[in-house]
Amino acid sequence: MARLKIHLYGDPVLREPAEDVTEFDKALETLAADMVQTMFDADGIGLAAPQVGLSKRFLVIGIPTGEDAKTRKVLAMANPEIVDESDELEIYEEGCLSIPGITEEVERPADVTVRYQNLKGEEVTLEAHGVMARVIQHEMDHLDGVLFVDRISPLKKTLLRGRLKRLQEEGAEPTSKRA
Ligand code: CO
Repeated sequence: MARLKIHLYGDPVLREPAEDVTEFDKALETLAADMVQTMFDADGIGLAAPQVGLSKRFLVIGIPTGEDAKTRKVLAMANPEIVDESDELEIYEEGCLSIPGITEEVERPADVTVRYQNLKGEEVTLEAHGVMARVIQHEMDHLDGVLFVDRISPLKKTLLRGRLKRLQEEGAEPTSKRA
């Protein structure tokens, strides 16, 4: 398994609407394995393909189950779509592997039902709650070129402007620590 480079805030690939996954082949399985490895190495709980420079509607999730420190529920989703969401909203502090060092509270639906294709191309419907619902929505935003800092109040974003600008300039350098 290879560790992939995580693209940082300011990289144009993070702003592109991603394209559908059409091939459910060995290459997709390899991508999934590499993304899971990259996510775990970076201490993340979700990673979307645009974050590794690939403008595809594909993401992986790895959430601790609480059984012990290491056990996680891992999912790979191609072409996910939200088919239902709760009226109830929830505030949760989000971070992003592409925006290191910054976390902010974001409000989103508490529960979502998502339909996606697994690595074999089979359609799966999942009802998600809590952290799972949150990570799915955050990662799906990446597929539309949306970042969590787009969903915070204008005032909070103004306060973050300097840090985001610095990140954008550093992120543009070819010598990422993770490259
Ligand atoms: Co993110």
